[in-house]
Amino acid sequence: MITISGTGCALMDYLYTDIRFDSPAFLKYRSRTSGDGGLEPGKLVFVEDLERFAGKVRAERAPRIMAPVRASSASATADAAAGSPPSFDHILHELTGGREPARANLGGPSIVALIHAAQMFEEDASRDAENDRNSHALREPPGVRVRFFGARGNDSSGDELALIAARTPLDMTDCVVLDGPTPFTCVLSDPTFDHGHGERTFVNELGVAARFGPEHLPAHFYNADIVAFGGTALVPRIHESLGTLCERAKRGGSIVVVNTVFDFKSEARLATSSEAENMRNTRNTRNTRNTRNTPAKIGARWPLGANDETYQFIDILVMDREEALKLSGTRDIDTALAFFKAKGTGAAIVTDGARDIRFFSSGGLFAPIESGRLPVSAEVTRLLQSAERPPGDTTGCGDNFVGGLLRAVAAQREAGAAKGRLDMEEACAEAVVAGGFACFYIGGTYFEASPGEKRHRIELLAKLYRAQRGRQ
Ligand SMILES: Nc1ncnc2c1ncn2[C@@H]1O[C@H](COP(=O)(O)OP(=O)(O)OP(=O)(O)O)[C@@H](O)[C@H]1O
Ligand SMILES: [Mg+2]
Repeated sequence: MITISGTGCALMDYLYTDIRFDSPAFLKYRSRTSGDGGLEPGKLVFVEDLERFAGKVRAERAPRIMAPVRASSASATADAAAGSPPSFDHILHELTGGREPARANLGGPSIVALIHAAQMFEEDASRDAENDRNSHALREPPGVRVRFFGARGNDSSGDELALIAARTPLDMTDCVVLDGPTPFTCVLSDPTFDHGHGERTFVNELGVAARFGPEHLPAHFYNADIVAFGGTALVPRIHESLGTLCERAKRGGSIVVVNTVFDFKSEARLATSSEAENMRNTRNTRNTRNTRNTPAKIGARWPLGANDETYQFIDILVMDREEALKLSGTRDIDTALAFFKAKGTGAAIVTDGARDIRFFSSGGLFAPIESGRLPVSAEVTRLLQSAERPPGDTTGCGDNFVGGLLRAVAAQREAGAAKGRLDMEEACAEAVVAGGFACFYIGGTYFEASPGEKRHRIELLAKLYRAQRGRQ
């Protein structure tokens, strides 16, 4: 039996629709200068930074706040009475008017990818029924076992996360429950923003993910055919140790897969250091014209683990375009791919939304490919542009893409393909279809009507994609 172990980001996504970014509440908490902790359309802030920012806003408005105010929630009253910065509960209440989220779904680049892989290996419900009818023989055990090793908190979001995960075939036995809040992202959506184009603003709570570290990963985590690290930038202690963890998994003979997420912490650090540098330059040259608003220094990049050695312990690295450029400190995909190759990464894939994916393999796991490219699914594009467009969003496309990749690698190994001979293009094709399918529903996790349903729908899409590529 093939086993997949995964760790990294798992969180609850709460979607609030119709939050006007020009409302008084939003404007009150809107950032004054980029990176100050205030809300920024299209960007993500952390709860702790937003609360700090809100404290400053309150201090600025102190004389008015001291007048009797009608607090809109119990926590608001408590906050005001204590003179402490407003809690996120209070801020959210102001922003949403106390509405419940329109949608809650399980998200996160680790757990969503693993759930997809598990769903694709699930026994077909109809086949099960057939087995039961035809014989009393033991059912064939599933060929692949997918396990999540991460953390959730002991709060209501944590219960929700566990309930959703329990509706999927992912093995959650090794998900630990830590004392504290479950990680979440609040997605505030304003469809009217930017002349009707719409925009989203994100607020993330790291919660117990801030405390989850290498010591929480038991020995049997590494005892798997595939060890996958997903979105570890949102699990900072795992992220800092990523090199050591990948090395251990690789030395143990596992296939190591890493998929990234936007690294807001590193991005903030780069922005601060480039700002400091600009100030120095400004002082030195007394010439502000060319130095103001310079983006992060050219060549500056996000770290991945303690140092660049991490790359050589990764068999497959999956990033979206922006992450690839930020990690490599480059400005185009070709140079980024060359960077990952030079650092010793076994294979790397860069996704780019509706545009072609790009990839290479140096030969350790997949057969070598100097430079590969695949289009996205034309059937997905067609459906998205058609009248029968299903309600959905692109949340989790990248995460499900990785799920498709994990399934393909596991399936190829189970079918007996030796390391160094796996077919990367076929694996990527499966990933493209899985990523595209995520456009057809809201959030990252797909709820199956019955086991095998998702696989059935993906297989139909995969057939069309094979035809698109001129394959049988
Ligand atoms: N509009 C689209 N049409 C068809 N396929 C898409 C579309 N958007 C995404 N996909 C599929 O999903 C893959 C990953 O998408 P993308 O590059 O947006 O990932 P991402 O930025 O990591 O997404 P997220 O982090 O929200 O999961 C694409 O390579 C493609 O196969
Ligand atoms: Mg992504």
